[in-house]
Amino acid sequence: MSLQMLLFIAYIWLAIAIVVHITMFYITAPFGRHTSGKWGLMVNNKVGWVVMECPSLLLMLYFLFWGESSFQSNVWILFVLWITHYVNRSLIYPARIKSTPKKMPLFIVLSAIFFNLVNAGLNGYYLSVFASVKDYDASWFHTPHFIIGITLFIAGMAINWKSDNMLIHLRKQGETGYKIPQGFLFDFISSPNLFGEIVEWTGFAIMAWNLPAFTFMVWTFANLVPRAKNHHDWYLNQFSNYPKNRKIVFPFIF
Ligand SMILES: NC(=O)c1ccc[n+]([C@@H]2O[C@H](COP(=O)([O-])OP(=O)(O)OC[C@H]3O[C@@H](n4cnc5c(N)ncnc54)[C@H](OP(=O)(O)O)[C@@H]3O)[C@@H](O)[C@H]2O)c1
Repeated sequence: MSLQMLLFIAYIWLAIAIVVHITMFYITAPFGRHTSGKWGLMVNNKVGWVVMECPSLLLMLYFLFWGESSFQSNVWILFVLWITHYVNRSLIYPARIKSTPKKMPLFIVLSAIFFNLVNAGLNGYYLSVFASVKDYDASWFHTPHFIIGITLFIAGMAINWKSDNMLIHLRKQGETGYKIPQGFLFDFISSPNLFGEIVEWTGFAIMAWNLPAFTFMVWTFANLVPRAKNHHDWYLNQFSNYPKNRKIVFPFIF
């Protein structure tokens, strides 16, 4: 594939993100607390997470080790960050979430596989074939976009992991219901795990400084802001004592 073709696909993908973003404020993605049997065939929740997130991990491993120029510059660092995130998301996270009778629609699994194939495909292909050695040579480490980007990426990942961990531990073994999370960023927003993920991929886009990484940042925002709103509205609906001062996903802002 030529660079022009890859960038053309990335622009189309960006336009689709905007449409999906708007749609998701009206149609709630049916998994987790919002799961619904109305979306056809259902699959086991934990298996669903592994199957839908693994393509991103496998594709990036493929591009790292079999790409044309993944080790000709420091671009491998971007691969390692992406792979670290997806080792957690596709293997560790599903193993740690508490088992409940809840299932996930196959439709969600298939949509997420497509989402992951396009995002990892665009980013992995670009980084392993088209990334210029000059852009990621030793001077990259001294650029503001590397320093700001990696700081945001690590901070975002830490927030995402800590918040997911706190949520997972709200239930004791055998419990299946929901509680109001307290402490850490939960005192300010309803979904610090989603906030952390948005910060993380914003950091990645700033570090990488290319169109495919920007596209993935936009997609993360497009998916997670409406999902956080759905979570927030759900809390207000379920708990009459839910703290009214909590924002949705961006502390003090939204
Ligand atoms: N990059 C992307 O586009 C994307 C898209 C979606 C998700 N993600 C990431 O995937 C992770 C999960 O997302 P999510 O929206 O499914 O997270 P979530 O609704 O916050 O759920 C996280 C886990 O904690 C449990 N949980 C949540 N709130 C709880 C409460 N109040 N009481 C008891 N247990 C609670 C959930 O159980 P239940 O499953 O039983 O509700 C689930 O096991 C996040 O880290 C998110 O950033 C990324």
